[in-house]
Amino acid sequence: MNERDSEQVAHSLIARGYEHVSCETDADVVLLNTCSVRDMAEQKALGKMGMLGRMAKSRPETVFGFLGCMAQARGAELLKEIPHLDLVVGTQKFHRVADYVDDVVARKRSVVGIADPGLNRMDDLRFSIVDVEEEVGSQSTIRDQSLAPKQATAFVSIMQGCNMHCTFCIVPRTRGAERSRTISEIASEVRALVARGVKEVTLLGQIVNLYGRHEFPSGAAVAGRGPSISPFVQLLEAVSAIDGLERLRFTSPHPIGFRDDLIDAISRLPKIAEHVHLPLQSGSNRILKAMHRTYTAEKYAQLVGKIRAARPGIAITTDIIVGFPGETDADFRDTMRLVEQVGYDGLYIFKYSERPGTPAARLDDDVSREEKTARFLELEQAQRRHQEKIYRRYLDREIKVLIERPSSKSEADMTGHSTCHKVVNFPAPVELLGQVARVRVTQAKSNSLYGEILSAP
Ligand code: 5AD
Repeated sequence: MNERDSEQVAHSLIARGYEHVSCETDADVVLLNTCSVRDMAEQKALGKMGMLGRMAKSRPETVFGFLGCMAQARGAELLKEIPHLDLVVGTQKFHRVADYVDDVVARKRSVVGIADPGLNRMDDLRFSIVDVEEEVGSQSTIRDQSLAPKQATAFVSIMQGCNMHCTFCIVPRTRGAERSRTISEIASEVRALVARGVKEVTLLGQIVNLYGRHEFPSGAAVAGRGPSISPFVQLLEAVSAIDGLERLRFTSPHPIGFRDDLIDAISRLPKIAEHVHLPLQSGSNRILKAMHRTYTAEKYAQLVGKIRAARPGIAITTDIIVGFPGETDADFRDTMRLVEQVGYDGLYIFKYSERPGTPAARLDDDVSREEKTARFLELEQAQRRHQEKIYRRYLDREIKVLIERPSSKSEADMTGHSTCHKVVNFPAPVELLGQVARVRVTQAKSNSLYGEILSAP
């Protein structure tokens, strides 16, 4: 989601006449979009901004800004702490960034022009802008071609915010309440992307399957197909029907609200990719309850079974938090067991990170750092062994790969994803970018596949 937000801000600046440069030392304006979901992400952004401060000393006219979640959560405090920072723009104001940048550039130029550079930093923040106030309903979708002219895949934001209130999560604070765009607006954005050569879109939402639940009614019953069609499934149908779109992904759903109409859509809409990222967080019912995830391990496993029955061979990946407050070794064993039982194609493991203002921050963060690390490593190692097996099953198989970009590792190779979301590398000419190729897998590693092209259109 941050990638998509950054892209949108970059487009809006380009539309104003700014140019994208490849290196930050050449830039007149440096904006860091930030994530607050774990402390590590905040520390990285702060560290990076600190390093940029050295550049600020020799180039006082350069504008520095923080955007996004950390800006939203910390606001003006950031300006006080970081002397060279000029701009702090929250998640609800991405569409105003270009105005603010214009303002700061103009004011800094005039100050730099008439006085010595030392004057440039105003202690009273007169030259800085903070805007993190909430403003609903302003999800402009600026797209232009200047950033990535031959792009095969694209992200499309379908909603903002989250009302689920998982106790560990800062997102409701940084991104506000759920609000959704209309199906027709999203479909026309996808049509425009497809007209530019995009073959695959990923629909983005904090809880993507709850799309539109406050705004739009569920559809009428269809014989034999469950009680009603949720707004999200209506959206999947509309986007699926767009000619020229080859693959449709969505991320991330919540196990709550992953109903039969969605499972049915996965089985009947062939453009939906063979992959679901289904965050589990913990395999212990006690911890799930404390996290306010409102499902049980058993319900989750049942859901996975239904998804697999709907689309045999579908890849399933997940997020796990280790070391949530109160997590005992027995709780962690439950997680290990469930992970083994499900047999994931991929795992994102996170050590619990206390986020200020979340309900879990009132609990004692009582699992030691060493214990969190030990659980992290144990889970990671078990997953690696399992994943090697899963990836080996693809050896000698033929899979379809969307060719997305030249490989960063070898000049002769291109890289892309299979529909089941495996990274696949293979020798191919760059002209094939954006095509879906049939590839035979010749090597399997634990995180990627290697192969040879059989045919491309
Ligand atoms: N600590 C650790 N991991 C977290 N996540 C969200 N909040 C926290 C936190 N406070 C993880 C969850 C989520 C993913 C995007 O980040 O697993 O699914």
